[in-house]
Amino acid sequence: MERILLLGSGGREHALAWKIAQSPKLEKLYIAPGNAGTALTGENVALKADDFDGIRDFVLENGITMVVVGPEDPLVKGIYDYFRNDARLTSIPVIGPSAKGAVLEGSKDFAKGFMQRHGIPTAAYRTFTGETLEEGKAFLHTLQPPYVLKADGLCAGKGVLILDSIEEAEHELEEMLGGMFGGASSRVVIEEFMSGIECSVFVLTDGKDYAILPEAKDYKRIGEGDTGLNTGGMGSVSPVPFADSEWMKKVEERIIRPTVSGLAAEGIDYRGFIFFGLINVDGDPKVIEYNVRMGDPETETVMLRIKSDLVDLLQGVATQTLGQKAIEFDPRSAVCVMMVSGGYPGSYEKGFPITGIDQVEGSIVFHAGTGVSNGNTVTAGGRVIAVSSYGETKAEALAKSMQEATKIQFQGKYYRKDIGQDL
Ligand code: AMP
Ligand code: GLY
Repeated sequence: MERILLLGSGGREHALAWKIAQSPKLEKLYIAPGNAGTALTGENVALKADDFDGIRDFVLENGITMVVVGPEDPLVKGIYDYFRNDARLTSIPVIGPSAKGAVLEGSKDFAKGFMQRHGIPTAAYRTFTGETLEEGKAFLHTLQPPYVLKADGLCAGKGVLILDSIEEAEHELEEMLGGMFGGASSRVVIEEFMSGIECSVFVLTDGKDYAILPEAKDYKRIGEGDTGLNTGGMGSVSPVPFADSEWMKKVEERIIRPTVSGLAAEGIDYRGFIFFGLINVDGDPKVIEYNVRMGDPETETVMLRIKSDLVDLLQGVATQTLGQKAIEFDPRSAVCVMMVSGGYPGSYEKGFPITGIDQVEGSIVFHAGTGVSNGNTVTAGGRVIAVSSYGETKAEALAKSMQEATKIQFQGKYYRKDIGQDL
């Protein structure tokens, strides 16, 4: 029986907690720091996900047998290695890559180089620094618009600029290399623009074998019809119709397999989730980016579609026996609709009471940015509540989420009503 500590505090973590809590192999689930929703699924612990010493003490005092890492930050900061390097913790598996593996997300330049070394299809690119600014500008002139500029390091999802004119691109390159995103943009990747529909593919790997999880598509823009500002994600749908078995076979052969074997060949310890941000270019999958964790809000549909016991799969990762496990999908569609604070992704107020969650029937409510104040559940972030539903079709799943979202009230609530409808 497992005593699991899950790190993180968003909708992704509530969805992981919901799935983990269904396992017959679970004895006890803690979430650090969690949110008002995870408190109903397990026990919240007041520890930050990057407080490694605090996590170590909690793990030892509470007989934790497995640590599951939700967000990238603790991984990039080396939580996996922290456990491996402490004799009292070496027997406790951490689900997530080593710091060396987390660089796949932590450095765009590393990720691009990795793909190049292993023949994994992605956009052509070059990387520039302050010293090679003029070469960067010259490289821009060899490309067709629009121009794609990416800060090398982590920028909370804001480090990618797509620009229509060469003047703007040259200007922004200068700004980025001049410190627009601090040290994260001291190196900038310039790459070829790819045109197509995006799809998120997830695998669990134990470093030798891998299990492909249900794919999903997320909706990043605030407005219906994919208009307006970028957000952390306004909803998701799974399955993705164009990701049929033929397309997924290409993904597996050209992208997943060389990634997993490439990690092993480079001596990178990786036992966790890999998130492939893909784009379908004329029927061929290409990699836009790697993340070293699950996606949010993709997890809020992907977890609905995994029929197998997630804890059993995670044990397979920990003991490198994933190859002996089978993963079964729920054939139904799942749609997640994210309810956000008024004003998001710009400035917004927090602390508004949320009512009506207890009236929701037939949808699954995942808390994203919620907290508790004076005994009430209140808004505590831009993305507040994810309403996830099953349907025989994605239209049916969306209709269910729409119906249930009307029951949940908080001041300024907003959500998109078109999730999944473009496919
Ligand atoms: P990323 O932070 O790498 O996920 O990039 C943010 C978004 O920018 C992606 O989800 C894509 O929509 C877009 N994007 C990034 N790179 C490219 C590219 N080479 N071609 C077209 N769109 C891109
Ligand atoms: N949904 C995209 C992400 O989690 O990065």
